Amino acid sequence: MADAGTLHDAFIDELRDAYDAEKQLTKALPKMAKAASSPDLRTAFEKHLEETRGQIERLEQVFESLDEKVRGKHCEGIAGIIEEGKSVMEEDFDDATMDACLIAGGQRAEHYEMAAYGTLIAWAKALGHMDAVDLLQQTLDEEKAADEKLSELAEGDINQTAAEAAHMDEDEEEPVAAGEKSGRSPKGKSNSRR
Ligand SMILES: [Fe+2]
Repeated sequence: MADAGTLHDAFIDELRDAYDAEKQLTKALPKMAKAASSPDLRTAFEKHLEETRGQIERLEQVFESLDEKVRGKHCEGIAGIIEEGKSVMEEDFDDATMDACLIAGGQRAEHYEMAAYGTLIAWAKALGHMDAVDLLQQTLDEEKAADEKLSELAEGDINQTAAEAAHMDEDEEEPVAAGEKSGRSPKGKSNSRR
């Protein structure tokens, strides 16, 4: 029987997963920035794209500090989150609603990464890789700040603007007599999107 894997092996595996996740995000973030209507939201995505490039370099330093080859391993988790974000971007939403959805997708990605880096830091500490702890902590702090920024934008006015648009939409549709077609999709009234 082959030797059982150790926490060190699991740690390297998770690092490769994180490395691939960050690379996938450098491709997704420009699309999210482009889809955003709020200039502040676009700036937040663009800023996080720059940070993500730095996070990739930091992970390379972590691999080097461990004398490990820099290598990624396909991250299915973030691929799924990005895929969901893509299908939302294909929807026909008003600008504020699209922004609210982009924030929702962005925060899913941030929380996934925060969970991954939290584990990586705890394992690096347990294994005594203190250089790695320091580098990974810097990234975790950036992910948390990016997440908070998105909450701030959502709660600042994007969600409210989207909610007002939803109410206006309802008011417009109410006078339509039964059986009469308004010629518009029943935005906000249908659950068929999910
Ligand atoms: Fe990241």
